[in-house]
Amino acid sequence: MPTVHFAGKSVEAPLGANLRLVLIRARLPLYNSAARALNCRGRGTCGTCAVRIEGKVSEPTRAERWRLRFPPHTPDSGLRLACQCAIQGDLSVTKQPGMWGQHEGDDAETPGDTR
Ligand code: FES
Repeated sequence: MPTVHFAGKSVEAPLGANLRLVLIRARLPLYNSAARALNCRGRGTCGTCAVRIEGKVSEPTRAERWRLRFPPHTPDSGLRLACQCAIQGDLSVTKQPGMWGQHEGDDAETPGDTR
């Protein structure tokens, strides 16, 4: 069973499990600030579940490619939408600052921040 590392914690997940659901069920802070309440619930349209992933997940879906093409995301950011990713091995997942998790560096809010 793959292990997902996120925000200093580790959780086991079945192969093929949806990354967003695994993080939410483990009560890990996938969403920043208002995105906790204001998100598309996994439809791949809001972009607020964006994360940086090291490890193997499914190929980007059509919805994911579409959403990552427009601001605040950029197509070359290397981010993935957790709601569109099926876990295919051990993962290290990082949430960046910003409502969409789009900011590089630490000059904005921290993951899970409620501001
Ligand atoms: S939850 Fe909206 S794009 Fe993933």
